[in-house]
Amino acid sequence: MEPVRLLVNSSWHVAKAAPGIPALDVIRGELHLTATKEGCREGDCGACAVIVGEWTSGGIPRYRAVPSCLLATGDLEGKHLLTLEGLVEGARDGLTPVMRAFLDENASQCGFCTPGFIMALTSWLAEPQVADLAGALRAVDGNLCRCTGYAAIRRAARRLVQEFADLPLDPVERLKALVEAQVLPSSVLEYLARGPGHVPADFAAPATALMQPSERIGASAVVGGGTDYYVRNPDPDAGFAPLLIKRHPALAHIRYHADAQQQWLEVGAAVTVRDFFSSPLVRSEVPGIARYETAFASTLIRNLATVGGNIVNASPVADMTAMLMALGATLVTAPSDLASDSERLIPIEAFFLGYKKLDLAPSEVLKAIRLPAGRSANGSLQFSFEKISKRRNLDIAAVNTALVFTIEEGRCRGVRLSLGGVAPIPILSDAARDVLEGAMVPQDDPKALARLALATAQAAAASVSPIDDVRGSAEYRRRMVHQLILAHFVRLFESSGIAEELFP
Ligand SMILES: Cc1cc2nc3c(=O)[nH]c(=O)nc-3n(C[C@H](O)[C@H](O)[C@H](O)COP(=O)(O)OP(=O)(O)OC[C@H]3O[C@@H](n4cnc5c(N)ncnc54)[C@H](O)[C@@H]3O)c2cc1C
Ligand code: FES
Ligand code: FES
Repeated sequence: MEPVRLLVNSSWHVAKAAPGIPALDVIRGELHLTATKEGCREGDCGACAVIVGEWTSGGIPRYRAVPSCLLATGDLEGKHLLTLEGLVEGARDGLTPVMRAFLDENASQCGFCTPGFIMALTSWLAEPQVADLAGALRAVDGNLCRCTGYAAIRRAARRLVQEFADLPLDPVERLKALVEAQVLPSSVLEYLARGPGHVPADFAAPATALMQPSERIGASAVVGGGTDYYVRNPDPDAGFAPLLIKRHPALAHIRYHADAQQQWLEVGAAVTVRDFFSSPLVRSEVPGIARYETAFASTLIRNLATVGGNIVNASPVADMTAMLMALGATLVTAPSDLASDSERLIPIEAFFLGYKKLDLAPSEVLKAIRLPAGRSANGSLQFSFEKISKRRNLDIAAVNTALVFTIEEGRCRGVRLSLGGVAPIPILSDAARDVLEGAMVPQDDPKALARLALATAQAAAASVSPIDDVRGSAEYRRRMVHQLILAHFVRLFESSGIAEELFP
C-alpha cells in the first residue's frame, strides 16, 4: 500500500493514515488542524469543508470545496489540501477578504459553522465564472448555521459579489488574482508552478494508480466519492485500503464516440455529479439538463459524489439513476483491473435485480455509463426531471421521475419515463410509455395536451404498488407519481397554456 502524499496548506505531507480513512480524521487527528470542524459526519452540515486543489484530466487547475468527513484520504494523492489555517498564511491582518466580510457583517456567532462557510465561499470565488449572489448562495447550500441566522451570511456574500465582480475568467489567471487579493494563499502558486502530476523529489515514490484487488478488504470495499459509503461506514478500520475509483484517470472522462450504427457519450464512473452537469457534451446532448443540477444534494456533495456511485449505491430514489434510466443509458462493467476484454454492457434498467441487488459480480466495478447521442440535433429531444422531498436542498426524494422522448412529425417517439420510490428498485413505467408512444403532441391545443398529460399520469399512477415508509405512505407516493408527471408536461410545454388547464 503506497502512502498518500499531498500538499497540506504550504507543506508537503505523507499521510500516516491508510488511504481509506476519511480525510477529516487526518486533518484533525494527524495534522492537528482543528479549524476544520466535525459536525454531523454525514455530509449534511458543511462544518468539515476543506478546499482541494487539483489538476483536472484536461490539464486545468481547479480548487473546489468538499466535505472532508466523506473524502477518502487516498483521493488526496498529489493534490493541494487547503484548510482555514492555510488560507490565512501570509494574510495581512490575519484575515482573508472572505473572513473580513463575515466579521464586518456579524455573520459569525459561536463560530462552529464559520470555517465551512469560509471554505465554501472561497472556493466559489475560485470558480471561473461571473460572481453573482445566486452563485454565492448556491455555493453554501450545503452549509448549516444554527445560531447566527442566514441574513448576515447573505450580507457577507453580497459584499463579496460586489468586491470580486471583475475577476478574470481564465482559471489560472483567476487563481493568481485571488492570491494577489489574499483570498487564497501563495501556496496555490507553488502548486500551479509544479504542474499536473508533480510532487517534490523527496516524495516522488511511484504512486499506485489504483489499489490492487488483493489489497481490498471485503467485497464491498469500493469507494467512489464516498458520499454514500462513509455515511454507512463512518469509522473504517485503521488499515482500510479500498479500491478508490477516482484514482483511475481513465474513469474521469466524458467523451463522444460513434461507430457505423450509433453515437454515444461515454461518462466515466468516476465523473463527479458536478462535472456531469457542467459538461458541454452532456448539455448539448440533453438540452435543459443543467437546470436540474441543484435538485441533487448540495454543491459540497456534488463536488465529491460520482455518477457511478449513485447507480451502484442502488437506492430506489437515486436521482442520477432516474435521469440516466429515462435517457436510455447502458452501463459498462469490467473486472476491477478494468480489463476491457471482459467488459459487459447492461441496459441500466436490467442492472437492478432487487432491493440493493445488482447485476455486478464482487470482482467487477462499474466502469462507465453510455448515453445515446445525436438525438438533440433537430432540437426535438424532450427531457424533464421531477423530485419530491421534504426539503428543497440536501434531501433524498420520496418519489422522483424523469421523462424523455423526441417529437417526430408531431408524435412522441422513444418514450422512457423512470420512476423512483415506488418499488424496491428504480423502474421504467410501461403504462406511461403505452399511452405516450406514438401519440400526437397537440402543442397548440392546451386542452388536448392536458388530456394527454392526465392520461399518462393516471396510467402510471395506477400501475405502481409502492409501500409505506418514513418518507411517505403508499397512497401519497401514488399521488405524487400522478402530480410529478403533470409537472413534466407543464415544464416541457410551459408556454402552451397547459398549466392553466391542469390547475385552473
Ligand atoms: C448530504 C447528502 C445528500 C445527498 N443528496 C442526494 C440527492 O439529492 N440525490 C441522490 O440521488 N443522492 C443523494 N445523496 C447520496 C449520494 O451523494 C449519491 O448517491 C452519490 O452519487 C453517491 O456517489 P459516491 O461516488 O459518493 O458513491 P460512494 O459512496 O463512493 O459509493 C456508493 C456505493 O457504490 C459503490 N461504488 C461506487 N462507485 C463504484 C464503481 N464505479 N463500481 C462499483 N462500485 C462502486 C460503493 O462501494 C458503495 O457501495 C446524498 C448524500 C448525502 C451525504
Ligand atoms: S461533519 Fe457535517 S458535513 Fe462533514
Ligand atoms: S455561528 Fe454558530 S452555528 Fe453558525
